[in-house]
Amino acid sequence: MCGIVGYVGSKIANDFLIEGLRRLEYRGYDSAGTATLNGSGEIEIIKSVGRISGLASKITKQPSSATLGIGHTRWATHGVPNEANAHPHIGGRLDLAIVHNGVIENHAELKQMLQERGFVFGSDTDTEVIGHLIAEALQEELENNDSQDPLAAPAEAIRRATKMLRGTYGLAVVFKDHPDAIFAVRLGSPLVIGIGQNENFLASDAAPLAGFTDKIVYLADHQLAIITENDLRISHRDLGQISPDVKELAIDSEQVELGDFDHYMLKEIYEQPEALANTMRGRLSDDDATAVFGGLNLTPHHLRRIKRIVFTGCGTSWHSALVGEYLFEEIAHIPVEVEYASELRYRNPPMDNETLIFAITQSGETADTLAALREMKRQGHLTMAICNVVGSSIAQEADGGLFLHAGPEIGVASTKAYTSQCVALLMLALYFGRLRHISYNEGRRIIENMKKLPELIEKTLQTSDDLRRVAEKYSSANNFLYLGRHYNFPTALEGALKLKEISYIHAEGYPAAEMKHGPIALVDEHTPSVFVMPRGFIYDKVMSNVEEIKARGGPVIAIAEEGDERIAEVADEVIYIPRVEEYLQPIVSVIPLQLLSYHIAVLRGCDVDKPRNLAKSVTVE
Ligand code: G6P
Repeated sequence: MCGIVGYVGSKIANDFLIEGLRRLEYRGYDSAGTATLNGSGEIEIIKSVGRISGLASKITKQPSSATLGIGHTRWATHGVPNEANAHPHIGGRLDLAIVHNGVIENHAELKQMLQERGFVFGSDTDTEVIGHLIAEALQEELENNDSQDPLAAPAEAIRRATKMLRGTYGLAVVFKDHPDAIFAVRLGSPLVIGIGQNENFLASDAAPLAGFTDKIVYLADHQLAIITENDLRISHRDLGQISPDVKELAIDSEQVELGDFDHYMLKEIYEQPEALANTMRGRLSDDDATAVFGGLNLTPHHLRRIKRIVFTGCGTSWHSALVGEYLFEEIAHIPVEVEYASELRYRNPPMDNETLIFAITQSGETADTLAALREMKRQGHLTMAICNVVGSSIAQEADGGLFLHAGPEIGVASTKAYTSQCVALLMLALYFGRLRHISYNEGRRIIENMKKLPELIEKTLQTSDDLRRVAEKYSSANNFLYLGRHYNFPTALEGALKLKEISYIHAEGYPAAEMKHGPIALVDEHTPSVFVMPRGFIYDKVMSNVEEIKARGGPVIAIAEEGDERIAEVADEVIYIPRVEEYLQPIVSVIPLQLLSYHIAVLRGCDVDKPRNLAKSVTVE
C-alpha cells in the first residue's frame, strides 16, 4: 500500500526520493509524488498518476538542486487515483507539504469544520485534512510558543493536530519556513529513519534504505521525530524526549534488486532453498532432538501447559496457518483453530488461560492482523508473532515469537514467506511435541528430514520448464479448480490464490472430496483441475476424485510424487515432485503451483510483481 520516503542532507534529494519510491513500488500503488524545498524557501511539488518512471521523467524535466524532500506512493482509499489526490498535499497556503500512510476515520467531520473556518480543499483525501489542521495549529503556535528552539512550534503544531485524529497514520511533514528539517510521526503505520554521514533518511519500511545506510531507528507509536542533516531528535507524546534506539539494518541492496530475474516473484521462488535454510538456521538441535527459539519469552514449563492454539492471519499467511493446524494436531497433539484476522478482531470467542495466540504475517503490518493481536492482548491472552519483517508493528507488540529470516519479499504474491512460515510452524510443532509425547528418536527423524528441505526444493524447482509447457496449454482457461486433501488442502487453496492474484483467472481451492458438493458443476473440457496429490494415506481417495473429474471431461493436472505411474495413466499432465514425509509435503508441493501461476501470468501479459488492485502490505481495514 502507500509508501513514504524522505531525505535531508547535502546531496540532491530527488536522487534518493526516486530510488526509494522505486523500491517501494512492490507495495502496490496508483500514483506518486514528491515535495522538495529549494534554496529560496519554496515548496515544489511534483505528482504523477501511474508508475514511478512517469514521476521520474517529470522530475528530470524540472531538475531541482534541493537537498531536502519527501515522497510518496499512493494506493487510493479516499478519492480516485488522480494527480489532485496524489500526495504530497499541502497545508494552509503552501505553508507545509505532507505525505500520509494510513486512514483517518473522522476526516469527514474534521473537513467540514475546517471548511467552515475558510480552508479550501483541492483533493478528496483524508490527508489534506491533516495538512490544514497542522497549518492552523502552526499559526497559533507561532503566536504563543515562546521556545527558543525554532523547530518547537512546528513540532507542537503536529502534536496538536494529530491529537484530533481518529485512525492510523505515518506522516512526514516539511515546512516552508524550516527548510532544514523533516518531521515524522506515527500511530499504527510504520516509519523507519536511516542514519547516514551528514545525511538522514526516512522511509515507511527498510527496503529503500538498503545500501544507503546500515543504521536505522524504528519509530514507535506516538513518537515524533525531527530529522535534520546531522541530528535526530525523538519525543514521545507522554514520555517527552527519548534517545533513539539505533539498530543495524540486516538487508543489503542486492536483496532488494532484481538481479538476473525478470520478476521479483520468480527471484523469490528461486530463493526458497536459501530462505528455508535461513529460517531453520541455529534452530534445530540434534542434541536435544527439538527446535530451539530465542524469542518465545515463555518457559518450557509454561508452554507445556498450553492446551489450545489459535493461529490468525490474512491471505497467504492464513493458508500457512491452516498448514500449521494440520502440523500441530499431528505432531504436537494440541487442538488448533485458525481464524481470519479480520473476523477474529470482532469476535468474542470464549478462550481460557491456556490458549496461546499466534499472529502469522510476512509484513508484520497487516491492519486486520494487528487489530486481532491487540484485541487478544486486551483480553489478556498471550500472543506470539511469526513474522518476516524485523521492527514491524506486530513483531513489536506481540509478547514473543520468531522471525522468519526469509529476506525481504518484494513480489506482491507471497512465495518464500509462505514456505518459510510453514517451516517455522513445523519447527514449533516439533518443539511443542517434544515438550509432550514425541520421543528423542522421532524428534531426530523429523530434524533429519527437515534439513533436507533446501535440497528438495532445489530439485523441485527443476520442474519449471515442464510447468511452462503446461501453462502454454492452459493459459487461456477462464476457471481453474485446485484440489487436495489433508496436508495438501491448504496447498490447493494457496495454489488457487496465487493464480487469481497474478493472472486474474478465477480459481477455487477445495478439499478434493468436497468438490462433489458444488464445484463439480463447473467441470467441463475448458476447466482444468489441479490435483495436489503426492502419495500418502489418503492417496487412493484422491485418485477417485481424479476419476470423477475425468469422467466429466475435465482436464487434470496432477502434482504427484516421483515414481507414481498410476496417475500418469489418468491425468492429462503430471508434474513430479520428490518423495517426502507427509508433514513436508505442503512445503514441497506448493513450489510447482507457484511456478504454474507465474508462467500463466507471464503468458497472459500480466504485471506479475504489481498485480492490479493488490497491495503487498494491507495497512487499512
Ligand atoms: C496482502 C498480500 C498477500 C498477503 C496478505 C497478508 O493481501 O498481497 O500476499 O498474504 O496481505 O500479509 P501479511 O504481511 O500479513 O502476511
